[in-house]
Amino acid sequence: MLKGVVSVPGDKSITHRALLLAALASGTSEIIGPLQSRDCQNTVSCLRALGIEIEEHPRRTIVHGVGLTGFRVPGTVLDCGNSGTTMRLLAGILAAQPFVSVLTGDESLLARPMDRIVQPLRQMGALIKGRMDGQFAPLVIRGGPLTALRYELPVASAQVKSALLLAGLAGRCEVRLQGKLNSRDHTERMLVSFGADLTEEHGTLVLSPVDCLTARAVQVPGDISSAAIFLAGAAGVPGAEVTVENVGLNPTRTGFIDVLRAMGAEVSVVETSTSGGEPCGSITVRGRELRGIAIAGEIIPRLIDEIPILAVTAAFAHGTTTIKDAAELRVKETDRIQALAAELSKVGVDITVQPDGLTITGPTTWRPGEVNSRGDHRIAMSLFIAAALSGESISVTDADCVDVSFPGFQEILTSIVGKGR
Ligand code: S3P
Repeated sequence: MLKGVVSVPGDKSITHRALLLAALASGTSEIIGPLQSRDCQNTVSCLRALGIEIEEHPRRTIVHGVGLTGFRVPGTVLDCGNSGTTMRLLAGILAAQPFVSVLTGDESLLARPMDRIVQPLRQMGALIKGRMDGQFAPLVIRGGPLTALRYELPVASAQVKSALLLAGLAGRCEVRLQGKLNSRDHTERMLVSFGADLTEEHGTLVLSPVDCLTARAVQVPGDISSAAIFLAGAAGVPGAEVTVENVGLNPTRTGFIDVLRAMGAEVSVVETSTSGGEPCGSITVRGRELRGIAIAGEIIPRLIDEIPILAVTAAFAHGTTTIKDAAELRVKETDRIQALAAELSKVGVDITVQPDGLTITGPTTWRPGEVNSRGDHRIAMSLFIAAALSGESISVTDADCVDVSFPGFQEILTSIVGKGR
């Protein structure tokens, strides 16, 4: 049973972007309520290596921007750790800086596809080398003058979209993007609020050159993906009730709410403010007996990071839930399709792998056992929720990775978890 009112740490995607845009701006920016987690720390340390002065205080970070091409030659390799957002977005910026830089990361990041940014950045004139002709990091980027880009996005990836917009911004050249643009749009919203020239023309995203960005304060809302862990956990347990306050409500991130409602959950959302174009408010879920549904198509990019916890919700629901069109899950911090099926089936979940998703039939007769996060923070947290609600003794190993996105997760879980399922 989960019961309580909680807040979650700042949004990871928005924090990365605030750090990067503040570094590119002219003047000093204050980031209020940033996520100070391992993933965002990778962006901070890479920016410091590139000559950006950053002051970190409890609940706020000050960034002294150097302008669009004021980055300094790094004295060392830039280590992005586990963070795909750090590597891909920074690659876009570095493509326009007049020096050579090297981006690397942990074992998981070195196995994730980089050709999706390398190819279009090469089209803009950047010289990029990487393992297997740029398919994988480490990446060596020889930045310099870039040319305008017209590009059709083949995957709905905010990291690719953002890398190309940031390359155009720093390179002061036009970027026109079409195709699969329906991923999270934090970069677009924040670019506009920092004074970039970004418009939408008949379904094409158009970034036009500007000389500089203007430093500003950024208020970071709570991370809806962290909130979703508790909310989707509570949804299928009659009697449970969880409210998460001060959380981002950007519609490109709220797909899991639509899914929970379609499964029969009671969800209420109250929008209380907007800052930097990002709506923010509170979400309450009251637990109900849920039914399995089909999750596929256009909604997938709006809930891509919530599929691990929705798989747990589905394990508590009655009937079959199918998840399709989610092949991107195979190239996240781990192959999340394989990981979810392998780990949840160890403790009794009826779950099968599909090429681009999963099939889960509930409700589950849980079994005690040991499950492993495979070093993936979202898998770890989803398994902790399954363990807490199962009524069985389930232990989660390799769980340190939770700190990648959600420091303090265990304390909040302990504060809201009660007796019974
Ligand atoms: C993110 C974009 C998504 C998401 C990731 C964070 C971002 O990845 O899964 O956790 O901050 O831009 P893709 O862009 O690869 O879809």
